[in-house]
Amino acid sequence: MSKYYEGAFYARVMEPMQRKLHAVVAKRVAAGERVLDAGCGAGGLAFLLARRASEVVGVDLAPRMVAYAERRRQRDGVANLRFVAGDVSEALADHPEGHFDAATLVLALHEMPTAARGPVLRELCRLARRVECVDFRIPMPRNLAGLRNRFFEVAAGPEHFRAFRDFKARGGVFGVAEEAGVTCAHVRDIDSGALTVVTLTARG
Ligand SMILES: C[S@@+](CC[C@H](N)C(=O)[O-])C[C@H]1O[C@@H](n2cnc3c(N)ncnc32)[C@H](O)[C@@H]1O
Repeated sequence: MSKYYEGAFYARVMEPMQRKLHAVVAKRVAAGERVLDAGCGAGGLAFLLARRASEVVGVDLAPRMVAYAERRRQRDGVANLRFVAGDVSEALADHPEGHFDAATLVLALHEMPTAARGPVLRELCRLARRVECVDFRIPMPRNLAGLRNRFFEVAAGPEHFRAFRDFKARGGVFGVAEEAGVTCAHVRDIDSGALTVVTLTARG
């Protein structure tokens, strides 16, 4: 079922608040790399990545997000970027192991249903040599940034909030990565400690 904030609302209201975060993630990608942006939403980060990467593929479960991102792409004439609608745990299953140098996964893990997270992380670690992931730091700080994020999680609706609470209960990205059997290395915390940046890789 589509959500009220998908598409133009997300691009106009949420993305401007994520510009700094997207800049931090984009810098973790080297010039000329091939990148998969998983859970790309309305495409804000994917467009930024396309300025330095050789090729970017944005995948999102929500058709309205992808349709909006694709309209933007056509309007701006960005040739090294394409968008795919679908679940990233299976949408690129025909791509070989290590097809991408890097995948990005930004603010998407916390909103996935519990059972979806493991298959997504394992598939991203198959498709890309590393996954640059940003999500809420758990425990969340009791400051303005932490309060703001809690507010948005409530405002996103009951289904979203349930997934967020489960993400918290499992210890955030570190706990979820452990359950999925992938390696999770801390990079840094940003946004007054409200977000954590990690690199995920396949084990062994
Ligand atoms: C909060 S938005 C973040 C969008 C974008 N990464 C950003 O930083 O602006 C999370 C997105 O993840 C997508 N998503 C959740 N589960 C997914 C899955 N299994 N496969 C692909 N996309 C997924 C949602 O549809 C949503 O658009």
